[in-house]
Amino acid sequence: MNTVKVSAERDYEVVIGCDWSSTLIERIKNRTRVAVIVSTNFSPDLTPLKNLDCELHLFEVPDGEEGKSSSTLLNLWSWLGAAGFTRSDLIVGIGGGAVTDCAGFAAATWLRGIDWIAVPTSLAGMVDASVGGKTGINSDYGKNLVGSFHSPDSVLIDLNFLNSLSLRDISAGMAEVIKCGFIADPEILRVSQKCTAETLLSDQSSLLDLVTRAVRVKAAVVSADFKESFAREALNYGHTLGHAIEKYSKYQMRHGEAVAIGMVFVAEIAFARGAIDLQTLQLHRDLLTRYQLPIAFERSAWQKLAPLLALDKKARGNTIRFVVLEGIGSTLRLDDLTSAELDAAYERISS
Ligand SMILES: NC(=O)c1ccc[n+]([C@@H]2O[C@H](COP(=O)([O-])OP(=O)(O)OC[C@H]3O[C@@H](n4cnc5c(N)ncnc54)[C@H](O)[C@@H]3O)[C@@H](O)[C@H]2O)c1
Ligand SMILES: [Zn+2]
Repeated sequence: MNTVKVSAERDYEVVIGCDWSSTLIERIKNRTRVAVIVSTNFSPDLTPLKNLDCELHLFEVPDGEEGKSSSTLLNLWSWLGAAGFTRSDLIVGIGGGAVTDCAGFAAATWLRGIDWIAVPTSLAGMVDASVGGKTGINSDYGKNLVGSFHSPDSVLIDLNFLNSLSLRDISAGMAEVIKCGFIADPEILRVSQKCTAETLLSDQSSLLDLVTRAVRVKAAVVSADFKESFAREALNYGHTLGHAIEKYSKYQMRHGEAVAIGMVFVAEIAFARGAIDLQTLQLHRDLLTRYQLPIAFERSAWQKLAPLLALDKKARGNTIRFVVLEGIGSTLRLDDLTSAELDAAYERISS
């Protein structure tokens, strides 16, 4: 078991490799009411919680992005109100990133903020969504447009949850892990090269190492820059084109799949600028392919993708900014790329 500390508007721990129920029980002593939020698609066996010496309320929300909606929030507020939730009560979100985002936002908004614990069950949730304090829901105008920074009390990561996750979601989560390797921790790349999406779950020590290292990278960045100014932008590696591809695919592609393509795109840009060598560029393609992630996208999509880049919420003013590598483990922001450079990089990732 490993523990990573995060310093944000409050300090909290991410406990990795724990048994979720016994660790949760230890951490919810002295609470009067606890709301457990899960999705209709995935809920763990909650029997161990039945003996808790507190009122336990189970709230089910629709699965995935559908659950991250204003109507879900209205329901949650009504349920919390009906159950008499006070400032000293607790919300626990158990599920993928969609559930923890929504549970965290309910906690952020109820009585102007009550405590919550995240129990992420997907790999993307473990290494990304549950760490960093961003909570929120979608609006009709886009993803994550309504939200708040509200750090959890703790994040409990039980790696056994991954046994039921689809191979596709393991791979999608690995895109974020590999991203952390490129931007900050080369050892992640070395360990990732020893495994595949299929072998990862049977190699518990590599899995624990990879998740811990990825959480450490995110924790270090958000601890230095909680409210997302410049330092936090490094986490956006591969995300500018990634977000555009997600939107273009009408969210049929996993976030991690789109980010994988986005990382190869920015690696091509960095290579063309002389910021990384050919070997580092090739390592992007080799590693992502190893995890069955896409590394190319339709040539004909560029006309529609290029204008979407400027709309990315991480764009500032009218300039499109890209995070690129300056060698492995070090990032650089570029905001002076010409359309010719972007066209050329896209051509090299076109299929
Ligand atoms: N707050 C943040 O900083 C942050 C960062 C990254 C992503 N996110 C958000 O996270 C969400 C994506 O997270 P995700 O990839 O976990 O998707 P998700 O929450 O939609 O989960 C994907 C699917 O996996 C299922 N699932 C989850 N755990 C499972 C398990 N152990 N076994 C079997 N099935 C399981 C879910 O029920 C769902 O059907 C998006 O809404 C994204 O905006 C937030
Ligand atoms: Zn991401």
